[in-house]
Amino acid sequence: MNWQGSRVLVTGGTSFIGSHLVDALVERGARVRVVDNLSSGKLANIQHHVSAGRITFIHSDLLGPGVALRVVDGMDFVFHLAADHGGRGYVDLHQAACATNLALDGTLFDACRKAGVGKVVYASSGCVYPNNLQTDPAKALYLTEDMVGPPYDADNLYGWAKLMGELTMRAFHKDWGMRSAACRYFTVYGSRGHENHAVIAMIARAFVRQDPFIVWGNGEQVRNWTHVSDIVSGTILAAEKIDDGTAINIGTTERTRVLDAANAVLSFTEHRARIELHPEMPTGPMNRVADNSLARKLLGWQPKVRFMDGLQRTIDWYYSTKDRQQVMRVLPRVLTER
Ligand SMILES: NC(=O)c1ccc[n+]([C@@H]2O[C@H](COP(=O)([O-])OP(=O)(O)OC[C@H]3O[C@@H](n4cnc5c(N)ncnc54)[C@H](O)[C@@H]3O)[C@@H](O)[C@H]2O)c1
Repeated sequence: MNWQGSRVLVTGGTSFIGSHLVDALVERGARVRVVDNLSSGKLANIQHHVSAGRITFIHSDLLGPGVALRVVDGMDFVFHLAADHGGRGYVDLHQAACATNLALDGTLFDACRKAGVGKVVYASSGCVYPNNLQTDPAKALYLTEDMVGPPYDADNLYGWAKLMGELTMRAFHKDWGMRSAACRYFTVYGSRGHENHAVIAMIARAFVRQDPFIVWGNGEQVRNWTHVSDIVSGTILAAEKIDDGTAINIGTTERTRVLDAANAVLSFTEHRARIELHPEMPTGPMNRVADNSLARKLLGWQPKVRFMDGLQRTIDWYYSTKDRQQVMRVLPRVLTER
């Protein structure tokens, strides 16, 4: 598809993933507008585009009266990434805050329908999958899209809100013809990532030379960390190829144990420290890895970045942009905050 001149809104576009999506859309020639309340996003992530006059930035809260209707007006595509969201520590410990996403998504989708937006693409999550399927780390489990269904058992109020968002979009398509797609992102990492997510937390601990080196849980949890560049390419392909609200996994099939990721971080950063497990801290499901055959089939998408390569690149970014004293000061707080 030719994005040249398309009018595109990215909600939450100053965020980690949102800002990378903005980069890719600008590169394709889209006319991009970003709306963000900067509650966790950083204007610095997109400042280069704003300063160059390549995008429009609206600093506003989408829950404010009339804001959603105003910002979606005239858009060919709306990528909806704005959310009250953080890493494992955040989504486990801030239920009420994450529940506000129900209102945020409902308001945004309703505005898109009323304004006749061309298509809505929703940042959903692996958190919509039933917790009860993901308990055994020894199982070679690959979550397929059809595993989300009654009886639903989403991951915290954050996961329930994403699930309700998906179901709302599908109903809006069926009853009112709103064109849409949902992307279920799996544990995303990369530059501009935040310490409240595991990979960046591990890199930050190495950066401040933490010893003993703390790992949450028993370290046996399995994840398919997916590089932000692969998340962005999948999201744009979903916008191009899906209309009917279908939800699709965007994630690698690489299975990595938390303990192996921690050891890789220690080795890449040459930080010799003793690992100390903290099973009392939030860990999430023991086994969460996507099946991505639907994305391969419908989108022609496949992940390009191997975890160990992406990890090395992310470490390089972190070490070249952060200040050690500053990270030491904020780390205890930001591990569980936004
Ligand atoms: N990072 C991951 O591993 C991951 C995994 C699955 C899904 N997601 C989803 O991807 C999206 C982006 O996440 P992220 O990790 O890049 O960072 P993030 O959670 O910081 O992004 C959310 C953005 O929305 C903005 N925002 C929040 N509430 C708003 C409101 N009421 N009005 C306007 N803006 C508001 C924040 O300032 C931020 O820029 C989110 O929807 C998140 O749920 C992320």
